[in-house]
Amino acid sequence: MHYLVLSDIHANYTALEAALDAAKGRWERPVCLGDIVGYGPDPNEVIDRVRALGATVIRGNHDKAASGVADAEDFNPVARAAATWTREQLRPDNLAFLQQLPPGPIEADGLALVHGALHDEDEYVFAPAQALNGLLESPSPVTCFGHTHFQGGFSFHHDKLEVIQLRPEPGASFAALRVEPGTRYLLNPGSIGQPRDGDPRAAFAIADMDHKVIEFWRVPYDIEAVQQRMLQAGLPEPLILRLAYGR
Ligand SMILES: [Fe+2]
Repeated sequence: MHYLVLSDIHANYTALEAALDAAKGRWERPVCLGDIVGYGPDPNEVIDRVRALGATVIRGNHDKAASGVADAEDFNPVARAAATWTREQLRPDNLAFLQQLPPGPIEADGLALVHGALHDEDEYVFAPAQALNGLLESPSPVTCFGHTHFQGGFSFHHDKLEVIQLRPEPGASFAALRVEPGTRYLLNPGSIGQPRDGDPRAAFAIADMDHKVIEFWRVPYDIEAVQQRMLQAGLPEPLILRLAYGR
C-alpha cells in the first residue's frame, strides 16, 4: 500500500493541486494530518478537494478554531484574524465536515496519524526530547505527524534517538528514507500550504509500506497567484509574505 501523506494544507489550493499533480498515479490511499484550513485564501476549495479524494483525515488546531470546536484564544493575532476570516467563508457543509473530524492518534494499516504530539494534538514536536514519548508509545512503528510545518522527523533504535532531515537533491523531486526493522519513526511530511523550514515549495510524503520506503517530496507552485488571492481577501500581510520565504 502506498499512502499519500498530506499535512497542513492551510487553504492553499494551488499548492495542493501542484502536489497532487506531482504525486499522480503513485499512491492508493490518501491521509491528511490536519490543518486543512487557516491562513490561506481557499478554504472551501481545499475542503472540497480533500473530501473528493476520500482521504482519512484527522483534525488540526486550525480546523478546530475555524469551525468553532475550539476557540482561537491561544492563537497570535494574525492567526486569529485568519481563523475568523476562514469561518466567515465556510459553506455549511464544509463547516460540518470540519466539526466532525476526529482527533489523532488514529491507526491506518501500520501507520499512526497525529497532528501534533502523540498525547496532545496541539503540542509541537520540534526537538528530540519532545519526540521521545511519541517514538516509544505510539501504537505503530511508523507515526506521521504535522503541526510544525518542518519536513523530516526522528528515529529511535537501540536507545539511540536520531534526527532525520532529508531534502531532495537539486533537480530531484523527493528524497527517500528506508524504514529499518526494529526502528521506530516519527515522521513529518512537511506542510503543503505554508512550509516553515526554509524551502517554500509544497511538501508532502509518499509512504510505501510494502517496500518500507518513505519519500519526502518538494514541489514548486505558483506562490504569487496565492499571494494575490490573499491580498484580495484582505488576509494579514505577514501571512502573505512568508509564503515566498518558506519561513
Ligand atoms: Fe498547521
